[in-house]
Amino acid sequence: MSDTLTSIAARRSIRRYSAEPVAQSTIAQLLLAAQQAPSAKNAQPWRFVVLQGSAALELADIMKRSAAERTAAGVDVGSLPWSAAVIEQAPVTILVLNAAPPADLETGARDDYQFVMIQSTGAAIENMLLAAQAMGLGSLWICDVLYCAPQILAWLAREQQTLVAAIALGHAAEAPGARPRIPWEQLTEWRGAPAAG
Ligand SMILES: Cc1cc2nc3c(=O)[nH]c(=O)nc-3n(C[C@H](O)[C@H](O)[C@H](O)COP(=O)(O)O)c2cc1C
Repeated sequence: MSDTLTSIAARRSIRRYSAEPVAQSTIAQLLLAAQQAPSAKNAQPWRFVVLQGSAALELADIMKRSAAERTAAGVDVGSLPWSAAVIEQAPVTILVLNAAPPADLETGARDDYQFVMIQSTGAAIENMLLAAQAMGLGSLWICDVLYCAPQILAWLAREQQTLVAAIALGHAAEAPGARPRIPWEQLTEWRGAPAAG
């Protein structure tokens, strides 16, 4: 099997990390992998904020405060507190933002554009996750940050951008088995006949 297919098969969402640090050069390699993702019109709308040490703890604090406020107001917080705890533990968290201008609310003209730009940032995220796997690191794709996107964007002073996700990274302190998948055969329709060859 190719290295790529091996990484795809072996990757797991990791929610416990050891204290072992991640080299800054390794983080740079992951960002290089992200940079090589495809993007619509090669617009490269992704932006990254690398959080380590006290900066990552500040992010976790924002998430925990938001969870407490929502819970007090009787609003569901899903897995937000658990994702905050993962970020507290992980030696590195990378926030991924989309810098493409927002949709024009009057005409809706840029709705599709935003949709493809978010897809492009997703490609960059998956590249990073697979590169991390190939380099012996664990990762977790975290969208629970979206519960408190306005607070996080204000903290970063990046209100003109869209928060897409956070990626926790580090040396795995757990080895979970493969999570269940619906067989692709049940989700895929084939049409037409293969070209005669
Ligand atoms: C877009 C996206 C958002 C996710 N958000 C979270 C999250 O906020 N917190 C979390 O613990 N896991 C999150 N996950 C991880 C999923 O729960 C995980 O990928 C899924 O359960 C399958 O497990 P696996 O990654 O080990 O195959 C997210 C995954 C994706 C792709």
